[in-house]
Amino acid sequence: AIDSNFEQSREQVGEEDGVAVWGPVEPPEKQGIRGTHVAVDFDICLADGACLEDCPVDVFEWVDTPGHPESERKANPADEDQCIDCMLCVDVCPVDAIDVDPG
Ligand code: SF4
Ligand code: F3S
Repeated sequence: AIDSNFEQSREQVGEEDGVAVWGPVEPPEKQGIRGTHVAVDFDICLADGACLEDCPVDVFEWVDTPGHPESERKANPADEDQCIDCMLCVDVCPVDAIDVDPG
């Protein structure tokens, strides 16, 4: 499961399209955690897609991660600012790749 303490245990190494990237990142095998309020551990995500289907405000969008051992695409929390803290995504992800931190 994603480390809900990632903001302490990891370093932010960059930002992609306004979404924070928390290391370590060594593409293609290591993609790190994306997002802060809504965080997805790309190294755990296996592209199940339930989060994209169920999020009522469409926070997530697919990004391609060719060559990653778990899956070739990931759920990027591109619109995390829209999150209404319903926690559905956290509940439906089969591998607990998502952490939402209700402010
Ligand atoms: Fe979407 Fe709810 Fe998850 Fe926020 S907590 S990203 S609103 S499913
Ligand atoms: Fe990935 Fe879990 Fe969504 S596996 S696509 S974060 S439901």
